[in-house]
Amino acid sequence: MPTPPASATQRPKPARWLSSGNSITQQFLSLGGRPDIVSLAGGLPAAELYPVAEIAAASTRALARWGSVALEYGPMEGLPALRAAIAARVSAAAGRTFGPENVLLTTGAMQGLDLLGKALIDPGDLIMAQFPTYLGALDAWRPRQPRYERLDWTLAAPGCEATLRQAKFVYAVPNYSNPTGVLVPQGQRMALLDAVMAAGTWLVEDDPYLPLQLDGPAPPSILTSHAARHPDGPYDGPVIYLGTLSKSLVPGLRVGWVVAEAGMIATLALTKQSTDLSSSMLTQAIALDLIESGFEARHVPSMLSAYRERRDALCAALASHLSDWFTWDVPPGGMFVWATARDPAFDTNALYVHALAEKVAFVPSSVFDPDGALTTAMRLNFTRSSPERLVEGVRRLERAVKRYLAARPGRAA
Ligand SMILES: Cc1ncc(COP(=O)(O)O)c(C=O)c1O
Repeated sequence: MPTPPASATQRPKPARWLSSGNSITQQFLSLGGRPDIVSLAGGLPAAELYPVAEIAAASTRALARWGSVALEYGPMEGLPALRAAIAARVSAAAGRTFGPENVLLTTGAMQGLDLLGKALIDPGDLIMAQFPTYLGALDAWRPRQPRYERLDWTLAAPGCEATLRQAKFVYAVPNYSNPTGVLVPQGQRMALLDAVMAAGTWLVEDDPYLPLQLDGPAPPSILTSHAARHPDGPYDGPVIYLGTLSKSLVPGLRVGWVVAEAGMIATLALTKQSTDLSSSMLTQAIALDLIESGFEARHVPSMLSAYRERRDALCAALASHLSDWFTWDVPPGGMFVWATARDPAFDTNALYVHALAEKVAFVPSSVFDPDGALTTAMRLNFTRSSPERLVEGVRRLERAVKRYLAARPGRAA
């Protein structure tokens, strides 16, 4: 008798780390495609503001300029002219020279996070991370099985210095953090830099929201502040800076970058070799055109006025409908409002189920906690939906809160 063919359930199982992963980002992206649901969940820009015609024209120009080079595998470090353009951008901000050797182009900033995990983290290594922590970073590093300690920006927590000395790196999103929208003041940035220098560790500064300054300028990045203090010689500081075109232009280009001292860039480039050989040369060539032509710089302000209106609409709707149960700060930039329940026993994981029944989605706070224990808050995105949709979403959220409270054992609405 021939052996019957094995079914999929009998074949070898996926790697163990996957059982501790989650599909939440996948879920949010698919919810965003359902017109009956008001999604305040994803972290996406406004699709109707994507400059489709300008990107079509830039693609034509890029292919005319670069020809087959734009269709090749590229150098691992990225299109040299775009590396030089990013180096020039950082040099101008810092008032000192960064060279192409300080820049690695990546397939979105997300790849920068992934490469850092591969290059730096051994199982059990410690990361001191801004808390709550960007879900994508937790996802990227999950296969490496790190431990986490919370970064307290006041650096006043007992044992902070010793923890910093043990950490492989510190992870921070000082500009309009994902998920909280917080803008970290200059004094705290500099204090962290000094503490990192004293501890002799790395500082990963993840800065995708830099262009989305809704209420005036953000303080200088930690990278540029540090570099400005050390204006001579090759840059050899502890900051590993991640940037992207996803928020200033479109996420679909998948163009991001890492800026760091040259040895770290070489290590990350080696790591990239086994990840994707090279990022798309075509989208790098298009990105270069959009930067060199000045289009990126012209595009951002028009986007910001729409985002300001949306943020204000969301916050006004929250004040009208949810202030009995939640508090929040109006974020000075970025894409998110972080709403925290007044009742410390409130559970936004449970609220989420009622929200979906009311056809509105948000991101519950638990996914931004490596331990999943933070259940009192939610992240609300304001960039993706029109002001009218945002107001409708908050109305639905109010109904969901009432359903949740009515369903809570022993509690009255
Ligand atoms: C804090 C943070 N880092 C990195 C990324 C990834 O950006 P990219 O689209 O460039 O991969 C995001 C995207 O939302 C983010 O919020």
